[in-house]
Amino acid sequence: MSGVERRTFLIGAAVAGAASTGTARAATPPLFEHGVASGDPLPDGVLLWTRVVTASAIRWEVASDEDFRRIVRRGVTRTSAARDHTVKVEVHGLRDNTRYWYRFRVGDVVSPVGRTKTAGCGSELNFGVASCANWPAGHFAGYGFLARQDLDAVIHLGDYIYENLDGTVRPHDPAHRCVTLDDYRRRHAQYKTDRHVQALHAAHPMIATWDDHESADNSSSIGSPQHDPATEGPWGARMAAATQAYHEWMPVREGKLDRTFRFGELATLSMLDLRSYRTDTTILGAAQRDWLINTLTSDRARWQLVGNSVMIAPVTFPPLPGFPATNTDQWDGFPADRELVLRSLGDRKNTVFLTGDIHSSWASDVPLNGASVATEYVVTSLTSANFDDLMKVPPRTASLQIEAGIQALNPHVRFVELDSHGVSTLRVTADEVRFDWHYVADKVNPDSAVARAHSFRTRHNTAQTERVPL
Ligand SMILES: [Fe+2]
Repeated sequence: MSGVERRTFLIGAAVAGAASTGTARAATPPLFEHGVASGDPLPDGVLLWTRVVTASAIRWEVASDEDFRRIVRRGVTRTSAARDHTVKVEVHGLRDNTRYWYRFRVGDVVSPVGRTKTAGCGSELNFGVASCANWPAGHFAGYGFLARQDLDAVIHLGDYIYENLDGTVRPHDPAHRCVTLDDYRRRHAQYKTDRHVQALHAAHPMIATWDDHESADNSSSIGSPQHDPATEGPWGARMAAATQAYHEWMPVREGKLDRTFRFGELATLSMLDLRSYRTDTTILGAAQRDWLINTLTSDRARWQLVGNSVMIAPVTFPPLPGFPATNTDQWDGFPADRELVLRSLGDRKNTVFLTGDIHSSWASDVPLNGASVATEYVVTSLTSANFDDLMKVPPRTASLQIEAGIQALNPHVRFVELDSHGVSTLRVTADEVRFDWHYVADKVNPDSAVARAHSFRTRHNTAQTERVPL
């Protein structure tokens, strides 16, 4: 447990303990029970987040030291029930590539201390990468592992919450699938009571986009196979509720989730939103497609990183009971958009897609007309069910044959592992991008060991993945 994680945990326990003693205070929710967070780092600033139910005016402080002896920015902000009492502060005027500490105050009560970092770069960048954290499917020890690492930011590729009720380890709140604004707000609130979620946010800024389960399974702008308009009302109202709750509860700048982050000359990160503009024929929508192609082809950073919620490498799956040969919820369902993006890359060979969604670990060369034009690294799920869970077979048994079948049918897939859960880290230097998978030993154990299991890298100007020996 790091200093930040330990302090956050102890303060959280103390606040919870204070609230549970004394009948007079029992009805009052503890202040800062959902922790603190930061996100969307810029060279001169960062976004701060918390939630305060019992006050409308909240003081905030940013310091250049952990003990708040050198406070560099401070102010007062407001919240209200209209935004579910969530608090967001845009801080500017900071130095680039620099660590800061922040906290909030209401009266005499001080929040847990968060640590954050502005964008920029020295000789390397280090990111955590995560996706698919399903509360009832397990505990979030992988987040705790990332909280203890030395990172510039955590890139979250979606399924930060799940709207449904899939799993038995611990119950979801509310105890029905989310449809209304109140449902989605309660679900987000539940996730932000988890100690590993709180520790992760208190340790690093997050750069998040969403995938389908922040709204509904395999969602798009026009619907979801798990939405029934007859009993659940218009899809547009449900998508609007999911969008509002996400923007209230996540440390993302207001507006849209497709956006650019610059880390000096070393890397530019384009985060995609593959749900809000998706129709039957486009995964990106025209405006996002134009922006992405323009960034990938005209930005001058040495590396172009793309935060991409679903797989872009084409995959043909071997025959499996209950699984189609092609997953059309991925870019495989939108070959025209994919070809436009990949064709625009020309011979640049500096684009790396960072992907979630599929609850398994992959490293692929991304082909166009037989040549590799980019690489793709897929982080596995933190807890969400994957192959061995769904098939109810022990890990590293039946999956081995399926993995071999996938690689035989898809020679550009250099690595696939269908069973393990965990998180990834990404290190970017001028010469290479390196992607490590860290697997949790037991996803139902909140204190599970987490250990590095596989490492791959892409050397600059190669568009090839290669295994790095452990
Ligand atoms: Fe997922």
